[in-house]
Amino acid sequence: MTPDVLQEALDAAVSAGESARGTTSPNPPVGCALVDDHGTVLATGATSPVGGPHAEINALRHAGERARGATAVVTLEPCNHTGRTGPCSHALVRAGITRVIYLTADPFKPAAGGADYLRDHGVEVDYRATRVAALQPWLRSVANERPSVTLKFASTLDGFTAAVDGTSQWVTGADARAFVHEDRARRDAIVVGTGTAIADNPSLTARRPDGTLFASQPRRVVVGKRDLPEGNLTRLGFEQYASPEEALTALWHAGARDVLIEGGATLAVGFLELGVIDAVQAYVAPALLGQGRGVLDRAIASTIAEAKRFHTTSVRQLGEDVLIEMEKY
Ligand SMILES: NC(=O)c1ccc[n+]([C@@H]2O[C@H](COP(=O)([O-])OP(=O)(O)OC[C@H]3O[C@@H](n4cnc5c(N)ncnc54)[C@H](OP(=O)(O)O)[C@@H]3O)[C@@H](O)[C@H]2O)c1
Repeated sequence: MTPDVLQEALDAAVSAGESARGTTSPNPPVGCALVDDHGTVLATGATSPVGGPHAEINALRHAGERARGATAVVTLEPCNHTGRTGPCSHALVRAGITRVIYLTADPFKPAAGGADYLRDHGVEVDYRATRVAALQPWLRSVANERPSVTLKFASTLDGFTAAVDGTSQWVTGADARAFVHEDRARRDAIVVGTGTAIADNPSLTARRPDGTLFASQPRRVVVGKRDLPEGNLTRLGFEQYASPEEALTALWHAGARDVLIEGGATLAVGFLELGVIDAVQAYVAPALLGQGRGVLDRAIASTIAEAKRFHTTSVRQLGEDVLIEMEKY
């Protein structure tokens, strides 16, 4: 297989996995592409919602008999255990797959061992360690035994989310706001504090620019003890927890693995102080305010050496705004 052909197959597997984000928890959004000797992608598959087939099984079903002799590219090591579905490693062998390329080793102990099983059954196995973005929240959740937590905010260049008079609509432009909604549809839960829920009367739904809802909607979660007045969230239905700890425990047990904190500044500090912010999404508008409401409502470091630092994983322009995605060191 030439490097170009291989890259095409890797891209097909990665984008299949990406398409399943927000629909698979507590399982990971895995993608699989089956490729023949000529480099033709025969079929792709992604993890089905819980209880349904894994990515490999979906791809094998699409390919049918054409799978015999093919290469399977999978974003995560094929599972080797009988959970709600049978082991994918066995299904790949039965289907006559001759080579498996996987991009991430399975850290989930009960499911690991798929690569060894495949090798033992005459399949050529190739592990190409690659950072697959769609799998990062799930990998972190398995490592930490709690949902992965991403802090999202929209601010001016000088770090303000609202002006001194409290106005904040809109800090960023239409393209960035549309992306926020697409991103919500990929998450398991959206969390806000009672302060934001009371002040903004948000719906916390994932909507297209025309107002229609995406098929996949995150759980709507409010943290804090205050009662919410009648409004969007009470009409749509929401979960309320007294503290960040309580919210994360309940969400973990409910199967949520990828959680987005959408504010406000008080709750964001609560999560930071708990040490559970794994990733940050900063939507930065090319605008200055000089003064206003900050992203965080109080200091979390008193000297520069103690600043909470992240490393940047991606930067993309959305209209005039910039989305910087970061992860904890
Ligand atoms: N531009 C943006 O990106 C953006 C995003 C979101 C919000 N906002 C703005 O932010 C404002 C609201 O922010 P806010 O800071 O007043 O309220 P907030 O952060 O949304 O909510 C604060 C509340 O969270 C609850 N909480 C529970 N455990 C906590 C903990 N460990 N640490 C901190 N809080 C905890 C408390 O509720 P109880 O007191 O009920 O117990 C606390 O009063 C709104 O005006 C909204 O428009 C801007």
